[in-house]
Amino acid sequence: MVSRVIPVNSFDLVLFGATGDLARRKIWPGLYHRFVAGQFDQSSQILGVSRSEHARAEFQDIVRQSLLEAGAGDDATLTGFLDLVDYISLDAAGDRGWEALTAAVRDDAVRAFYLSVAPRFFGPIARRLKDRGIATPDSRIVVEKPFGHDLASAKELNAELRACFQEHQIYRIDHYLGKETVQNLMALRFANSLFEPLWNASHIDHVQITVSESLSVDGRGEYYDQSGAMRDMVQNHLMQLLCLTAMEPPSKFTPNAVRDEKVKVIEALEPVPMSDIARGQYRKSGDQAGYLEHAGNPDSATESFIAMKVNVANWRWAGTPFYLRTGKCLRERLSEIAVFFRAPPHMIFPGTETPQGNVLVIRLQPDEGMTLHTTIKDPGPGGMRLTEASLDMTFADSLKGSEQPQDAYERLIMDVIRGDQTLFMRGDEVEAAWAWADPIIEGWSERRLKPQPYDVGGSGPEDALLLMHRDERRWRPIG
Ligand code: BG6
Repeated sequence: MVSRVIPVNSFDLVLFGATGDLARRKIWPGLYHRFVAGQFDQSSQILGVSRSEHARAEFQDIVRQSLLEAGAGDDATLTGFLDLVDYISLDAAGDRGWEALTAAVRDDAVRAFYLSVAPRFFGPIARRLKDRGIATPDSRIVVEKPFGHDLASAKELNAELRACFQEHQIYRIDHYLGKETVQNLMALRFANSLFEPLWNASHIDHVQITVSESLSVDGRGEYYDQSGAMRDMVQNHLMQLLCLTAMEPPSKFTPNAVRDEKVKVIEALEPVPMSDIARGQYRKSGDQAGYLEHAGNPDSATESFIAMKVNVANWRWAGTPFYLRTGKCLRERLSEIAVFFRAPPHMIFPGTETPQGNVLVIRLQPDEGMTLHTTIKDPGPGGMRLTEASLDMTFADSLKGSEQPQDAYERLIMDVIRGDQTLFMRGDEVEAAWAWADPIIEGWSERRLKPQPYDVGGSGPEDALLLMHRDERRWRPIG
């Protein structure tokens, strides 16, 4: 299978926050890889923007370093890429530098403004882009998470952006949507006829969505302590995974058709009682610092782990819970969606136990792929004995010869240039997710609930296990 790289139109990408951490780790390498793949050429330009003063050559050197760290070769291709890069020093909330930006953008190129900056700058930048005529009716504006910390702040951000840009110009990034397997989930469901007839409460017992990380919050404790797993992961990334698993088939694969269906899922979520949630915080052990040390806040009640049972109250899913689980400092980095089918209703083989239902595991990382756990006859003589076997598909093996999966940012940035919003969150979608999350977060702070400590390198607090045991189910192991 040979994948095709379809070149995008010439663009001017203006990257605010061009020297920041996300730009260094993801955005510059993502752009570089697309350049190497031939998706754009010298007719495009990338304008790095930030507050500090740098000469063009000096800035190009900063970008060069980021790319070398990300594995680029120091060769003519890298030089060719850097030739597209220019720099403007600008005061995002003041007047300095904006004239230079006005002069630098071209009339005949797609304009995209990427705001890799703190959300408090979204409004001031959008306003200046509009008032100075830098943003045209066809320009795109891209914003990063966190998109608000509750419903009220998300509404404010939406209002600030919509005062200057139309919804079809606004690209709210949730990088999970750019992951190859997340899109594969849609292909699996809607480009195959095998699963969809079974994809409902009559055939599915429950779904487990796990995003487990082995990393701590060290180095970003101050941000994280204001956020916690619920705001940092559940309200956005896990919510997106839930939506794509639970949504109805859209009538077509267009941005609004897909996002309409996702919003319906979020709106169908039942409020989650406190008794259906387990919160945890990794603890100190010996010399190894715990969450409280990393957060620099000895009294912190912020959770670094959360597990919860979520009900989608609609015809398709009534009676089939979705269990969500995510945390830091767990045993392994592993993200997956596991769909547990119901056990066979009647057993015809004498002397054998009713087998577990089939489980379809969709792995996001590592080793992107899918596994279908099945029950087969135990090979050999000795009568009809049953055993478990799995049908395994690792995408890297199955897709040998085609382009390796891109990093989420590569795909998302190219979608911005193409003008395709399918993999970006719409304003009402973000607000609906906050409207669901807010009462949960408020419940914890009203009751002053503290998370339960758990060990680094484990699978989370005891309460998470109990949540499942109570329902006579079991979590899939983490690693
Ligand atoms: C980010 C969160 O949005 O996603 C981080 O802020 C988290 O806390 C990261 O580590 C996980 O992304 P990935 O792609 O590594 O699974």
